[in-house]
Amino acid sequence: MEKRAELYSGKAKSVYETDEQDYLILEFRNDTSAFDGEKVDQLDRKGMVNNKFNAFIMSKLREAGVPTHFERLISDQESLVKRMQMLPIECVVRNIAAGSLCRRLGVTEGQELNPPTFELFLKNDALHDPMVNESLVETFGWATAEQVARARELTFKVNDVLKKLFDDAGILLVDYKLEFGLFKGEVVLGDEFSPDGCRLWDKATRNKLDKDRFRQGLGGVVEAYEEVGRRLGIDFD
Ligand code: C5P
Repeated sequence: MEKRAELYSGKAKSVYETDEQDYLILEFRNDTSAFDGEKVDQLDRKGMVNNKFNAFIMSKLREAGVPTHFERLISDQESLVKRMQMLPIECVVRNIAAGSLCRRLGVTEGQELNPPTFELFLKNDALHDPMVNESLVETFGWATAEQVARARELTFKVNDVLKKLFDDAGILLVDYKLEFGLFKGEVVLGDEFSPDGCRLWDKATRNKLDKDRFRQGLGGVVEAYEEVGRRLGIDFD
C-alpha cells in the first residue's frame, strides 16, 4: 500500500490517499486540541497510543457485528481505513451526566442516565457544532432518515459492547461521540474511538481517564490513556 497525497488534515488526525481508490491512510498525530481549537498542545506518544487504542476497539466492534472503516494498523501512528463519504453529524450517547449536558440542563455531573441519552450534533466548527435532531438532519439533507436511524441503532450497539468491555476493566463508559460514513451505500462506523472522544472514569475512584484531563488541565493525559489501554490488554510497545 503506497501513501499518496494528503487529502485532509484535522485537529488530531491527517488523512492520505493511497494507490487503492477505496482505501485511505489515517495518521494519528500528537496534536491535541479542545474548545474548538482554542487550547492546543503536542502530547508525546498520543498519536501512537490513540492509533493502537482505536485499532483494538474497532476490532472488538467488528467482532460484535458493527461495520467499521478500520482495516489494519500499518505503523505506530497510521491505520488503513475504507474511503467513505462521511455524514456531517456526530452521534453522542451518554450513560452518566457530564460535560455539555450538565452545562445545558443544569444536571449534576455523575448522575446516572437511564435509559442512556442519544444526541446529534452538526459537524461545523464555525457554528461550534450545534445540537440538531433527526428532523433537521433530514430536511437539510445531511443524511436520510434511514441513515440516521441506522447510525442511532449502531451507536447503541456500540454502547452494549463497550460498556461491558470497559466495565470488565474497572472503568465506567460515561459518554462518547461516534461518526459514520457511507461505504458502498452502507452506514459504517468511521473516525476513531479513543479517549479523545469519550469519557472514561475509574469505577472505584471516579478519576477521569480521558480527554477531560487535557480540557481541565489535570495533567497525566497520555499516561491515563495508556492506563486504560493496559487494563484492556492493549500492547503499546
Ligand atoms: O462536550 P460533550 O459533553 O457534549 O461531549 C460528549 C462526548 O462527546 C464526550 O465524550 C466528548 O469527548 C465527545 N465529543 C467529541 N468531539 C466533539 C464533541 C464531543 O469527541 N466535537
